[in-house]
Amino acid sequence: MHLSVFDIVVLLTILFWILLIIHGRRQNPLGLPLPPGPAGLPLVGNVLNFPKMNSWLVAAQWRKEYGDLVYMQILGNRVIFANTYETAIDLLDKRSLIYSNRPRFTMMRELMGWDWGLNVMPLGPRLHKHRMFLRQFLHRNAMKRNHNILTLETHQLAAGLLNSPDNYLYHVRRATAAIIMKIAYGYDVGLSGDKYVKLADEAVESISIAAEPGAFLVDFLPALKYVPAWFPGAGFKRKAKAWRKLSQSMLKDPYQMTKRKILEGTARSSMMTDLVEQHTVQYGCIDGEEDIAACAAITYTGGTDTTVSAISSFLLALVLYPEVQTRGQEELDRVVGRDRLPNFDDRSILPYIEGIVKETLRWNPVLPGGGPHLLDKGDVYNGYFIPAGTTVLPNHWAMLHDEVEYPDPFSFLPERWILKEGQKEPRDPAKVAFGFGRRQCPGKDLADDSIYITVATILAVLDVQKAKDAQGQPITPLGRYRKGLISHPEPFDCAIIPRSPEAAAMLCHAIEGGE
Ligand code: HEM
Repeated sequence: MHLSVFDIVVLLTILFWILLIIHGRRQNPLGLPLPPGPAGLPLVGNVLNFPKMNSWLVAAQWRKEYGDLVYMQILGNRVIFANTYETAIDLLDKRSLIYSNRPRFTMMRELMGWDWGLNVMPLGPRLHKHRMFLRQFLHRNAMKRNHNILTLETHQLAAGLLNSPDNYLYHVRRATAAIIMKIAYGYDVGLSGDKYVKLADEAVESISIAAEPGAFLVDFLPALKYVPAWFPGAGFKRKAKAWRKLSQSMLKDPYQMTKRKILEGTARSSMMTDLVEQHTVQYGCIDGEEDIAACAAITYTGGTDTTVSAISSFLLALVLYPEVQTRGQEELDRVVGRDRLPNFDDRSILPYIEGIVKETLRWNPVLPGGGPHLLDKGDVYNGYFIPAGTTVLPNHWAMLHDEVEYPDPFSFLPERWILKEGQKEPRDPAKVAFGFGRRQCPGKDLADDSIYITVATILAVLDVQKAKDAQGQPITPLGRYRKGLISHPEPFDCAIIPRSPEAAAMLCHAIEGGE
């Protein structure tokens, strides 16, 4: 019998579908339905209606139609949006044994060279090792040794905001970078134009673009990575090539700089010096150098832009909600007084300031789309079958704007956490904002401490207000956010002045004394 090419293609297609059905039956012997979701096209699935940007907003809308879990299939890749806290906890936390892998991230890991990054690393001993390294330096108790760094750099931030308020974003970025560079490498960031900060900013920007689900088709069709860079439509390959240099410099440059200092005997104690010491074996050789370099670098890449986003949202909230500033300052004056700056010991007796920290994490979440969790094994949930290989996207935005948990969710209301008798405390936003299960953010205590000390210090010494236009009328920021995986407010006008000459003098004194 002679078969034409057409016959062979048809036969192979039928065979493929039969194997797919047999495989599906094995995984799902009860023939349970998949969770509901928008209808897709044959074979390509939801490729046309998968949101390319801000997918969490679209998924929150879909929730009204399809429910807490919304299922989609894009070119054979299965994706589920988990729209509520309960579903995220049930799947990603309680069943974390099977829901803790990461998707393949072809663009980031394979083309841009971020395979060393903990955030995209598959489960396995390497991931475990990196998480243990970070835990050693960043968990709640270990953070105490970093409090001095956080306090000093936050004083510098307040001084920078006073001296050139128009550059507020620069000062926030510099302070966040300075804190993390000191913790990770013992390195002092300059007051302006630091080359490592510039490098990291560019690197983080490239990740923020590349890691957004749906941003690059190659993440759904990995075979596209073989398309030559000159081919029409292969712009992603050219981008990846340029961005790859950033990931490699980010991994190696600050590490080599610190290693040189260690050899010269001039390195300041840091995460990296401690790890190098712990892993130096015979003849001065360092065991697992790449792991140490990767952990220090991921602290920087994971920690800077995220914290900058939160602090920028706090500044925006102060401009839009002047009463929050007044109440926060009133609490600080009453509890801490006006003759010293607040510190970490004050935290437990500042409930309104604590409420501001919580609202900062909730109001406009830093990572509204959360971190993607890949399911390793077929699972059944609420009568639905979830196939192995499905990526679950926890919709942080929807969870943190849940009207039942947080009435009037789009307003910045720290008083939610000042409870009247018999009132139930709303869920702590940190339970959502830092993710779930085994992939929960390893920098959450550092982030939380950074936000607290920034809120307390800024309110103690500064007034952040609406700027005025040429006619002397106050300018109200629109409160819009840029698109992207990490959510930043669009640049807004504001006026930043000292609360009083005494407050400004106290700040200068604290910086001079390095208190
Ligand atoms: C306000 C600031 C921050 C927020 C809101 C935040 C949030 C998150 C979220 C949502 C995830 C994904 C969790 C998941 O997959 O379920 C994550 C992962 C991660 N974060 Fe953070 N983060 C912040 C600051 C930091 C800091 C300061 C560090 C510094 C070490 C850091 C390092 C990381 C790393 C390395 C991962 C990947 C963990 C893994 O995949 O196992 N983050 N973060």
